[in-house]
Amino acid sequence: MKTALYPGSFDPVTSGHMDIIRRAASLFDHLIVVVFINPSKKGLFTPEERVTLLQQACQDMPNVSIQSYGGLLADYVKKNTIHVIIKGVRGLMDLENETNMARANKQLTDGLETLLLPSSSEVEHISSTLVREIAAFHGDVDAYVPACVAQKLREHA
Ligand code: PNS
Repeated sequence: MKTALYPGSFDPVTSGHMDIIRRAASLFDHLIVVVFINPSKKGLFTPEERVTLLQQACQDMPNVSIQSYGGLLADYVKKNTIHVIIKGVRGLMDLENETNMARANKQLTDGLETLLLPSSSEVEHISSTLVREIAAFHGDVDAYVPACVAQKLREHA
């Protein structure tokens, strides 16, 4: 049984993340989506809210589970059975950052590989930062996030 890990901040989960989650879930037996908590960054949503939104957005995918973790990705990997890390790549800037993180994580984990999935072109421009900014000005984010997130952003406004 092959288990993949998809790490991120997911503040909040977007249609871009969902594209990667769906495709990765179809490639592996089990996909664990992990909300990594960065204590120095105050997010829009709490880690618990992000996990709940991911659970709602992924409820039709039985081989996807959601967790949160406050620490190094490499430490999470040492404590769990993970065969590969999944990252989405939107453009050249992501490619450079993700390649560097993949190399660091490979070194820190004694060789775990990162699989980079190019984002689908329809969602390539979407990021959590963009969604937060549109939502802050009460713009329409329906095309950018799962329905449960759009609803939560409206409640938050
Ligand atoms: O969605 P994001 O914000 O691009 O995700 C970044 C994330 C959470 C994947 C990255 O910051 C991370 O791996 N954080 C965990 C801490 C860690 O291991 N940092 C070193 C990475 S080489």
